[in-house]
Amino acid sequence: MSIAEKFVTMEYGPAPEDPKEAANWLDRHERRFGLFVNGDWQAPAAGAYFDTFDPSNGEKLASVAQGTSADIDAAVKAARAAFPKWRALTPHVRARYLYALARLVQKHSRLLAVLETMDNGKPIRESRDIDIPLVARHFYYHAGWAQLLHREFPEHEPCGVVGQIIPWNFPLLMLAWKIAPALATGNTAVLKPAEFTPLTALAFAELCQEAGLPPGVVNIVTGDGTTGEALVKHPDIDKIAFTGSTEVGRAIRGATAASHKQLSLELGGKSPFIIFDDADLDSAVEGLVDGIWFNQGQVCCAGSRLLMQESIAEPLISKIRDRMSTLRIGPPLDKAIDIGAIVARVQLDRIQRMVAQGIEEGATCWQPQTALPARGFYYPPTLLSNVHPTSIVAQQEIFGPVLAAMTFRTPREAVELANNTVYGLASCVWSENINVALQVAAQLKAGVVWVNCTNLFDAACGFGGYRESGYGREGGREGLLEYMEPKWFKRAPTLPAAAAPATPQLVRDAESTVPAIDRTVKLYIGGKQARPDSGYSIEVRSPDGVLLGEAPLGNRKDIRNAVEAARRAEAWAKATAHNRAQVLYYCAENLALRRAEIINRLSAAVGKEQAEREVDVGIERIFSYAAWADKFDGAVHNPPFRNIAIAMNEPIGTVGVICPAEAPLLGFLSLVMPLLAVGNTVVAVASEKYPLIAGDLYQLFDTSDLPGGAVNIVTGYVSQVLKTIAEHDDLDAIWCYGDEATVASAKAMSTGNLKQVWTNEGRVIDWFDSKVAEGRWFLEHATQVKNIWVPYGE
Ligand code: NAI
Repeated sequence: MSIAEKFVTMEYGPAPEDPKEAANWLDRHERRFGLFVNGDWQAPAAGAYFDTFDPSNGEKLASVAQGTSADIDAAVKAARAAFPKWRALTPHVRARYLYALARLVQKHSRLLAVLETMDNGKPIRESRDIDIPLVARHFYYHAGWAQLLHREFPEHEPCGVVGQIIPWNFPLLMLAWKIAPALATGNTAVLKPAEFTPLTALAFAELCQEAGLPPGVVNIVTGDGTTGEALVKHPDIDKIAFTGSTEVGRAIRGATAASHKQLSLELGGKSPFIIFDDADLDSAVEGLVDGIWFNQGQVCCAGSRLLMQESIAEPLISKIRDRMSTLRIGPPLDKAIDIGAIVARVQLDRIQRMVAQGIEEGATCWQPQTALPARGFYYPPTLLSNVHPTSIVAQQEIFGPVLAAMTFRTPREAVELANNTVYGLASCVWSENINVALQVAAQLKAGVVWVNCTNLFDAACGFGGYRESGYGREGGREGLLEYMEPKWFKRAPTLPAAAAPATPQLVRDAESTVPAIDRTVKLYIGGKQARPDSGYSIEVRSPDGVLLGEAPLGNRKDIRNAVEAARRAEAWAKATAHNRAQVLYYCAENLALRRAEIINRLSAAVGKEQAEREVDVGIERIFSYAAWADKFDGAVHNPPFRNIAIAMNEPIGTVGVICPAEAPLLGFLSLVMPLLAVGNTVVAVASEKYPLIAGDLYQLFDTSDLPGGAVNIVTGYVSQVLKTIAEHDDLDAIWCYGDEATVASAKAMSTGNLKQVWTNEGRVIDWFDSKVAEGRWFLEHATQVKNIWVPYGE
């Protein structure tokens, strides 16, 4: 074709990236890879290998070891052996290793990008310009944290040996998100890459060798889900970090419930992409291209649900179709390709199946007339409009280049539709009115909100989800905390197993309670004293058997009522930090006023000395959280783009709290006050040992201007109400403080809606020691970080 003709057609010519270096690298390894354990390559114990393919043409790239539980065991042993020395290195030396890894990623960036594209099918433009630079940035950023760690986190220590399981959509980037913070904080790691895309992790293993990383600090065990399962179940793992499907995340939550493994989960999403009528529509359409057609839509935070304000729906759809028609789909090693190959046949089948079902459920499907390559797994960019909000394509993650479009009329309706899924990973808001955009951003239940931009990531800005999108954050200061624990915590002794509640001495809860009994307290729901649904109370006795009073026997129904009341207590969630502080100070004041009478009653259950200390330290604890209420601020990050990212510490929502038995007043205050300070509402089960404290507490709250429903108190047996709390879909988190068996059941029973669970791991907490029982550690668990990205400039 002549130049003159080219000017007319403006056709792209082929611009293939040369795969020679990557092919040479594979050949150097004879296209067969063992496991990277203890700094060296090993054959898999069972001698089995599986093949990894180039999805753009179906050709085999290499054979890769199928790790078994024996291999996982060897890797965990190597990581355990390496841990003491690695952790004991000076921060500066660890920082140098991370820095060396960052440099090596940059040095080998072209090889890594090509390898990634060959193994995954993503366009080379993306692996070269996005994935690999972000990998390097992640190691640089964490090299910095390694350097500063001891000064910034003097009270923390690493978890130990961490098991990390990653998916196939951003293979090397997910490795970086896992390995960099783990190493920076002094952990050693066993990582299992996804079975479809193991190659760049194996190349990274070589970089570890090149950097002279001590053997055993990083171990890479390839394999499938069974290998991942063996890692999750290994008894000598201290923490599991997982990214992948919600279904597997749930299985991992269940499998780790009875252990002390820390857990962070980054799961699926169905992220809304909201366009208001005053948005710059051309920019929004470009945003959509990055939102849903980036990486063939195989992105956990893909903007897969388009919510358009009704008045602009028609012109917008037409613009989107025009833009879709210009997207180039084809061999991903071609530098001018926008959409590459789908990772594997099963994923392609899944996309096809879900789109077919969406059409059956009434969606209109539009695809540009693009020829797909004859070989390999390709799926065209797809727009589904007229999607009903309950349709499978509006509710479930498709993980393909498929956009489901719906309309809304008002900002309020947009927020309702946006939040109407079980997920909460990311979201986009497009409006030229920054006030509206930020107001909507604040109401979205998502860990990331991109205002007038999309799919921006940076190591300094935490990433992670709300609700069934998982918990924990990756990146930023909050991401580091996922890999550390307070020093005292691991060494804390284990609580003795709680004795099964003695055969309850039930008392019919009639108005005619025996007159000799000192006190009958009530439940406290929605700011009112309430009788228990069961119609029974339980006798509360002192250690030497003296009857102290009766407490209601709370049941499922009471918990449900309490959750409803807590959900309705929006006044508290919306109160300003200053107002919350004022109310808490008022609580402290009232506790001080009632000091003598409360000590008098509490003494009968815990002795005079403890009662006095509980009240006195309790007053101080409330003061501390009143002080924190307007100081536990977020941050403003400066990512390396023309954006700021506003990191807000948001309340989790409504939290169920199982209070510790041993310190009836102080234990309650130590858990409930931090939650209240940052704006959560609470359903608390009072100390099983002395539930009568509920009566003193609600008198305190009633006289301190706490809005009804902000705190609800149920009494009774933890074993009888824990299940309802753990399984309740409207509770966002559970804080369970008790013996090992109790906290294990809290974790196991809350897998359903993947509620965040925070426990004492069955350990003793010295509630009287403000260094351990108060402060940031509690506040960090009472909040989750939402990053709102806002661009600046013209
Ligand atoms: P997956 O969740 O099965 O795989 C992710 C990783 O977990 C892989 O390394 C896999 O080997 C491992 N794994 C599988 N079963 C395991 C188990 N029982 N215990 C421990 N590890 C286990 O995801 P899959 O099957 O590759 O993709 C299915 C769907 O999941 C996708 O269509 C997509 O909707 C979603 N997905 C979401 C991702 C995200 O980033 N949110 C990433 C990958 C998939």
